[in-house]
Amino acid sequence: MTLHAIVMAAGHGTRMKSRLPKVLHPICGRPLLYFPVRAALEAGAEQVVVVVNPDTCEPVRQSIDRHLSLERLLFAVQDVPRGTGDAVRAGAVELRGQDDDRVVILSGDTPLLTGEDLVPLCSAENFDDVLTFTTFNLADPTGYGRILRDAQGEVREIREHRDLRTDEEKATAEVNAGLYAARLGPLGSALERLVPNNAQGEYYLTDVVPLLCREGAVRTVSADPQSLLGVNDRAQLQEVEAILFDRIRRRHARAGVSLVGDPLIDDTVELGTDVRIEAGVRLRGATRIGRETSVDVGTVIEDSTIGEATTIKPYCVLSRSEVGSGVQLGPFAHLRPDSVVEDEAHLGNFVETKKTVVRRGAKANHLAYLGDADVGEHSNLGAGTIICNYDGFRKRRTVIGKGVFVGSDSQLVAPVEIGDGAYVATATTVTRNVPADALAIGRVRQENKEGYASQLRTRLKASAERDREG
Ligand code: UD1
Ligand code: CA
Repeated sequence: MTLHAIVMAAGHGTRMKSRLPKVLHPICGRPLLYFPVRAALEAGAEQVVVVVNPDTCEPVRQSIDRHLSLERLLFAVQDVPRGTGDAVRAGAVELRGQDDDRVVILSGDTPLLTGEDLVPLCSAENFDDVLTFTTFNLADPTGYGRILRDAQGEVREIREHRDLRTDEEKATAEVNAGLYAARLGPLGSALERLVPNNAQGEYYLTDVVPLLCREGAVRTVSADPQSLLGVNDRAQLQEVEAILFDRIRRRHARAGVSLVGDPLIDDTVELGTDVRIEAGVRLRGATRIGRETSVDVGTVIEDSTIGEATTIKPYCVLSRSEVGSGVQLGPFAHLRPDSVVEDEAHLGNFVETKKTVVRRGAKANHLAYLGDADVGEHSNLGAGTIICNYDGFRKRRTVIGKGVFVGSDSQLVAPVEIGDGAYVATATTVTRNVPADALAIGRVRQENKEGYASQLRTRLKASAERDREG
């Protein structure tokens, strides 16, 4: 039998107190909504209908498009968020004419849910029921819909927290997870019969329970309570994200990555075997790290690719860059977007690069700025080398050949080219091209004045004393 899914994501998410739609809030590098949609796809849904509202339709589609193929996804617009029942009605329009198929219904705000969690709900033995839904027990059920059963233990209805009347109802620990599977035909006709007579004046999906009880079997299943945690406000988002980070760490550890302490690794990150990640590291976005590379304490890497057996020392910051194998970075190196560091290169402390290629085996070990440049193979840039790439109006390129030596405290004023094997003497300001194998030296010749040091001290001391007296 064909399975479809409807993911409700059109609510205002008022409790988030945010301009960003709730389901697009980031969690471990993905939008919240990504996770339930992926769970539905993993559970085998042929089509997943995401219910959005007119304001969120485009941003939701664009955001999901960055993380998943849209092939099996459909977007349905709920004109006004009139409640979860109305949301499913809007979603079911996309599945018209498939009354015999089953649909699983999920909320867009449950990011801990996985395909595995949906197995009991979607298993074949439930296919004869008109409705199967998931419940779990909570010590503090505040805010959730309670499951009210009759004397025989059969489900009578789901009553929302705000609509509870008696203390006995309020004390019910069994709550609705907001996860349902139903046959499309009977569900559709029950949705048509919903009325908004409740505290919020909304069409509640939960109100289909008493209606469907009359039409056939309604059954409940249980699931891992942790996977069902919903995000309604940012305190819950923070709690749920901590759990998700923990799951991601365990996934990598099982796959052969050494993790020390609790580095924060986005769901989007790929790590090779024998990678070592230390405490306080943050890995974001489309970051890929090859085998045997180690990333030491406090480093932040975003949208970057790192090769194998590279050593990244503490407190480096890398964004949108590419680093090869056997490279050494840091401590305190800063790779800004479009930096490429080829195999075996070394960039040491307080070295900043931007739109720069540092070719194989090249080195800049201390205090340097390399912007808009190409540094040739095995060249060595001394401490304090600054590439002056910007004149206040334009950014221009600097090209340094192979095996070049640039002495400490030199400035290369772009645009400038330095030929293969050239030698730039310490403290030179390079403003003209340097031919291959040439020595460029541009500093005032040193003069030594014998005996001047003590004369100078006597003069300075006398002058300071006169100041104090006068
Ligand atoms: C809902 C259930 C409650 C359950 C809880 C589990 C109802 C009436 N209540 O309450 O029984 O215990 O989930 O987490 O269903 N949405 C729309 N359109 C709307 C309203 C909501 O698409 O008009 C979407 C929201 O974006 C959200 C989901 O439906 O993703 C659930 O809505 P929410 O307001 O969070 O419901 P809860 O109060 O959590
Ligand atoms: Ca919710």
